Amino acid sequence: MDPAELVNAASADIAAVHSADQLESFRIKYLGAKGLLKQASDHIKQIPPDQKRAYGQALNSAKQSISEAFQRRKLAIDAQPVAVQGVDVTEPGRVTCDPYRPGGLHLIQKTIDDLIDLFARMGFSVADGPELEDEFHNFEALNVPADHPARHPMDNFYLDMPDGSSPLMLRSQTSSVQIRVLESQKPPVRIIAPGRVYRPDTVDATHSFMFHQLEGLYVDRHVTMVDLKTCIDLFARAFFGDTVRTRFRPSFFPFTEPSAEFDVQFGGSDGASRWVELGGCGMVDPNVLHAVGLDPEVYSGFAFGLGVERIVMRRHGIADIRDLFQNDVRFLRQFV
Ligand code: DAH
Repeated sequence: MDPAELVNAASADIAAVHSADQLESFRIKYLGAKGLLKQASDHIKQIPPDQKRAYGQALNSAKQSISEAFQRRKLAIDAQPVAVQGVDVTEPGRVTCDPYRPGGLHLIQKTIDDLIDLFARMGFSVADGPELEDEFHNFEALNVPADHPARHPMDNFYLDMPDGSSPLMLRSQTSSVQIRVLESQKPPVRIIAPGRVYRPDTVDATHSFMFHQLEGLYVDRHVTMVDLKTCIDLFARAFFGDTVRTRFRPSFFPFTEPSAEFDVQFGGSDGASRWVELGGCGMVDPNVLHAVGLDPEVYSGFAFGLGVERIVMRRHGIADIRDLFQNDVRFLRQFV
């Protein structure tokens, strides 16, 4: 084929090249070791001597122009996105729910973090205990004897255990961490223990089979009820605002003596104020100190337990506890 015809044919062919495979076929056809350009250059032997020079020049320029066309096409094809079969990776994403928003901590966790900061300023550090607990830590050492109604299987999540092994349960209260801490630390002990607790309650607007408590414990020499009341009052005002008032109502818990429930007074939207119960508290019962080997003649302490969901709902005007656990982003994102 005459070099000029070769250039024409190649420029028609290259226009139809759209893929790497097609490009490779083009290369083999024109530029390959047995390709048309090679054949054309072998053909020079048969050219009459007086035309050899012109033929040679035409062939060189054909080689150059075809190589250039090949290179240009190669650049364009290399720059194409890799198409996965059936998927156009260049298509913009479809926005089905939400454009990209930053996430955040859950409202419960944020509240626990606030409480940790607040109690840290009063000298409390954070303690931790297992959610899968034995009866000694959840009940026995807390002065809740075996025949106590709070230990009834209907009111607790006991595990199915192999015969002969001691029962395990999902802890029903963070008070178990009081025992864990007193077993391993010498007074003075000043801890809070936030965490999950489990009770087989029927789920409704104010009950859940899992919720969070925050336990507090202070054991030292000469700890008194005044320390307890001061601590609860400081917490309530730091958390809910300086104008809230607190009150103690006599109550009963096996692990404290005396015991109280504490309420916080909030202003209602109608201008009236109402008392809202926040938790239980009291002076650590001597039997609890005995159970962990401390002498009640030497040491005394106070303890308290708050319901975290209750605080969260009160603080944010949430009427249904289920909203906190359903994980509907439309709800959760209000608090991010
Ligand atoms: N553990 C109690 C409950 O779950 C709450 C509680 C009451 C904790 C009094 C305490 C306390 O530390 O002193 O109902």
